[in-house]
Amino acid sequence: IKKIGVLTSGGDAPGMNAAVSAVIRYASSNKIEVFVIKDGYKGLINDWIEQADINYAQNIIALGGTAIGSARLPEFADIKVREKAVANLKKHAIEALVVIGGDGSYMGAQRLTEMGINCVGLPGTIDNDIVSSDYTIGFDTALNTIVQAIDKIRDTMQSHNRAAVIEVMGNQCGDLALYASIATGADVISTSESKLTEQEIVDQVTAIAKTGKRSVVVVVSEKMYPDVHALAEKVEASSGYVTRATVLGHIQRGGSPSAMDRHLAVTSAMFAVDQIIAGKGGLYIGLDGTKLVARDINSTLNMPRKDKTEETNKIRFLNAQFLK
Ligand code: F6P
Repeated sequence: IKKIGVLTSGGDAPGMNAAVSAVIRYASSNKIEVFVIKDGYKGLINDWIEQADINYAQNIIALGGTAIGSARLPEFADIKVREKAVANLKKHAIEALVVIGGDGSYMGAQRLTEMGINCVGLPGTIDNDIVSSDYTIGFDTALNTIVQAIDKIRDTMQSHNRAAVIEVMGNQCGDLALYASIATGADVISTSESKLTEQEIVDQVTAIAKTGKRSVVVVVSEKMYPDVHALAEKVEASSGYVTRATVLGHIQRGGSPSAMDRHLAVTSAMFAVDQIIAGKGGLYIGLDGTKLVARDINSTLNMPRKDKTEETNKIRFLNAQFLK
């Protein structure tokens, strides 16, 4: 194999640059030319394809976001759109692709493989919602950002004898909320997989208030309640705590990648290039315990999500000393 491409797709995640950098450096060490595709699948159909520069690869390791750009492109499901992409790849004599992104990029990678371009995917998303990988590139950095933010919010809540409702990202996956709650000792947790009703949250904070606890932190996953500010008002009305809501928002997606995200990005990128050199495609790289594995994309589509209910309940119990 002489020429490969690399693209990032879906929501950007810290560590995507480290992965792109490693693809370029490792492929180059293997005497393979690398092309970067700008703005994900969109760049494939618009021929935004450029030969990678090795100095560029060195310079982006520590950068947040994705320097080569990303996009979400639902139209890629259309065969006509993909035919354009394949024609552009052939024009540059690119034989295979490394696709870095979330589960939205899986199908595109599988379909392109079926059309003769071997694709290998890397799990890149802050959400940790890729069932075929224990951890995703970007999760650790986002988690650390969230933990720092919650610690700071706790400082001020504790100073003023208040309660906070904090909404974190994760799409349909509660891992960011769960792990951040564990790391910060959050008092009330409601995740996508283990949801509390608004009334349950109100009741729990009210019960905590009766014990005289000085501050309360409630961590909730996004997309579960119509308005966390309205929820905070309900908490305040019942518990008596002055209650503030914070939506952490896109601050969670940015920032220089953590060492663990860079490690996962670089090692999985090398592993992906190894698969391509071996002539394989239609694979997604995942972390299984401490081991990297390459799974058929089709086999990952029906993999069940890990049930985190027991773990969530255990953490709720850990933090339940104030509940009577
Ligand atoms: O998938 C990453 C993610 O940040 C999710 O956590 C969130 O639900 C979504 O993307 C937000 O997307 P956008 O930036 O398009 O609003």
